Amino acid sequence: MIEQFKKDIENGMSSNPKTLPSKYFYDKIGDDLFVQIMDLPEYYLTRSELEIFTTQTQQIIDALQVTPNTYFELIELGAGDGLKTKKLLEALDKQHYKFDFFPVDISQNALDTLEETLKTELPTVSVNKKQGDYFQILESLKKTHHPKVILFLGSNMGNMSDEVARDFIYELGKNLNKNNKLLLGVDLIKSASIVLPAYNDSEGITKAFNLNLLQRINNELGGFFNMDTFSHHSEYTEKEGVAKSFLVSNAKQTVHIKTLNKTFQFEKGEKIATEISRKYNDEILNKIIENTDFQITKKLTDSKEYFANYVLNRGENEN
Ligand code: AVJ
Repeated sequence: MIEQFKKDIENGMSSNPKTLPSKYFYDKIGDDLFVQIMDLPEYYLTRSELEIFTTQTQQIIDALQVTPNTYFELIELGAGDGLKTKKLLEALDKQHYKFDFFPVDISQNALDTLEETLKTELPTVSVNKKQGDYFQILESLKKTHHPKVILFLGSNMGNMSDEVARDFIYELGKNLNKNNKLLLGVDLIKSASIVLPAYNDSEGITKAFNLNLLQRINNELGGFFNMDTFSHHSEYTEKEGVAKSFLVSNAKQTVHIKTLNKTFQFEKGEKIATEISRKYNDEILNKIIENTDFQITKKLTDSKEYFANYVLNRGENEN
């Protein structure tokens, strides 16, 4: 883990333009900051998806084509706090569907918390948490031939480039069987006046979230970043549909990172790319799934049409 972190930071800091992978946002402090982000007035994504899960629960269930008497596995990749999923679990449970819920996450801490809250809020739902790498877990679940529903929500796919997303969906398809379903939650392309504030909120929580990446390098790799000399910057155009976040060096400076035994140069105004948050439409998503075994069978949106939950069916090619 730490070796991979070192390697990724060294590579990112040595490339031109400089980059830092967004997956490293999520240490304990980053997790807490992301929880605060989801509550921000500007961060519409979570509320929009929750609205879909709250007001169109039955439409989701219908589109998943599960039947009350046939056992299925409900697998959530990156389960987090399960806020939206709970709406679905509750409805399935009420209607006596036979299923197990498999929340998958890299964070054991997140899984333990989720299990605890489900135990008290939905005690009759069977929860089988799986800690680890998505594909390792899918590989192990593949052995059973029960019908499967995969949840990949929260526009988590948006942190991937379209090429990486395509490979991801393709891999997912290889680990599933015919007529398994993927419920994908993605943020939709909309005007910059709505998207940009979501990544540059007035309270500065997103700024703190972004800067925490440098703090984490200081803490874990003996870095000497001075947080006051970097600022947070976000870009987005509706035409491209990709929100991009950066850390910008406010001065010409050098920063030493002890465990890497290296010093890095920053020009005044130099940008470090830390995150992309892709926004989608039907055309973009169809292009991503073009050479995979999936087809879109349903699209549900919130009342403002900010966010979409797509149901994708895993077609032919039997494994
Ligand atoms: C969790 C990846 C969906 O890109 O919107 C929130 C992370 N970054 N604010 C997103 C995030 C800045 C978020 N995702």
